[in-house]
Amino acid sequence: MTSPDPRSAPAGAQKASAGPVLALRDATLGFGSRTLWSGLDLTVSAGEFIAVIGANGSGKTSLLKVILGQQRLTGGTATFLGAPLRRGNRRIGYIPQQKLADDGTPLRARDLVGLGISGHRFGVPLPSAARRRHVADLLESVGATRYADAPISSLSGGEQQRLRVGQALAGDPRLLLCDEPLLSLDLNYQRTVSELIDAQRRARDLGVLFVTHDINPILDMVDRVLYLANGRFRIGTPDEVLQSSVLSSLYGSPVDVIRTRGRVIVVGTPDGSHGHPDAAGDTAHHDAPPAADRQAER
Ligand SMILES: Nc1ncnc2c1ncn2[C@@H]1O[C@H](COP(=O)(O)OP(=O)(O)O)[C@@H](O)[C@H]1O
Ligand SMILES: [Mg+2]
Repeated sequence: MTSPDPRSAPAGAQKASAGPVLALRDATLGFGSRTLWSGLDLTVSAGEFIAVIGANGSGKTSLLKVILGQQRLTGGTATFLGAPLRRGNRRIGYIPQQKLADDGTPLRARDLVGLGISGHRFGVPLPSAARRRHVADLLESVGATRYADAPISSLSGGEQQRLRVGQALAGDPRLLLCDEPLLSLDLNYQRTVSELIDAQRRARDLGVLFVTHDINPILDMVDRVLYLANGRFRIGTPDEVLQSSVLSSLYGSPVDVIRTRGRVIVVGTPDGSHGHPDAAGDTAHHDAPPAADRQAER
C-alpha cells in the first residue's frame, strides 16, 4: 500500500476556521409526495469523517446533490462555510458514484486528474507549466505518479479510484463527498482507497461524507455514522448507532447487530441495507486486478 507523501499536501492547506464546514438544520428532502428524509440536523467539522449508510433509494446520493447545490431542500436550511449552498463550489470535492472506465477511453491518468482543474472535456489546450505542476502534485498525493501516462482504461479499479480522488482534490476542497467509492473494488483495493481518503482528510483537515453500503472497510476511520432508513435517520459514533436496539427502533422491526472479528454485521434489515455474512468475500470477483497491479498497490 502506498501512503501519500505528507509533503505533498497543498502548500495553501490550512486549518479551517472555527465554524463547521457544513451545517444542515431541520433539513427535509422530498420528491412529490414522497419524503426521503426529514428533520435532518447534521454538522460536519473540518477533519471529520462521516459515513452515510442506507438502502438503495434512501436518499444518500440526493443528500450529496443537495450539498452540491444541484438539488433544493424541501425544507430547512443548509450552509457551507457559513454561506448558503450554491452550485459549482470549488471548495467541495466530489467523487460521483460511477462505473469504472473499461473501454477505449483515450484519457491518460494525468488527463483525468487534470479535468478537476480545468473542468473541461477532452481536447483541452496544452497545459501551462503551473497547471502541469498542479497535476503532478495531485498525482503524487494520491500515489499515482507511477502510471501518470497510462490510459485509464488500462488501469485497475483501485488505480482509477486513486485518480478520481486526485481529481476531487484539485480545487483544494474543505469538504469531500464520496458516493460509494468502494463499489466494484475488491477487498484489497477497498482498503487502500479508504486509507487514501483517510490520509488526505488528515493531511488537509478535510470534512468527509462517505456514502457506503458496508461500513466495515472504513470502520476504524469513521468519526460518526449517518444511518438513513424509512425516511428517518440516526447520527452518532459507530458504537452509538450500530446497535441492535438503535437500528431496530430506526427500522421499526427487529434488527440484530453482530460484532465479530472486528467486523460489524447487520442482520434482518427489511431493506438489506448493510453488510451481511456473505458480503465479506463476494466482492473479490468484481474487477479483480492483475497480479502485477496487486503487487504494485502494496
Ligand atoms: N430528481 C428527482 N426527481 C424525482 N425523484 C428522484 C430524483 N432524484 C432522486 N429521486 C428518487 O429519490 C430516491 C432516492 O434516490 P437516491 O438519493 O439516488 O438514493 P440512494 O443514493 O440512497 O440510493 C429514489 O427513489 C430516486 O428515484
Ligand atoms: Mg446513490
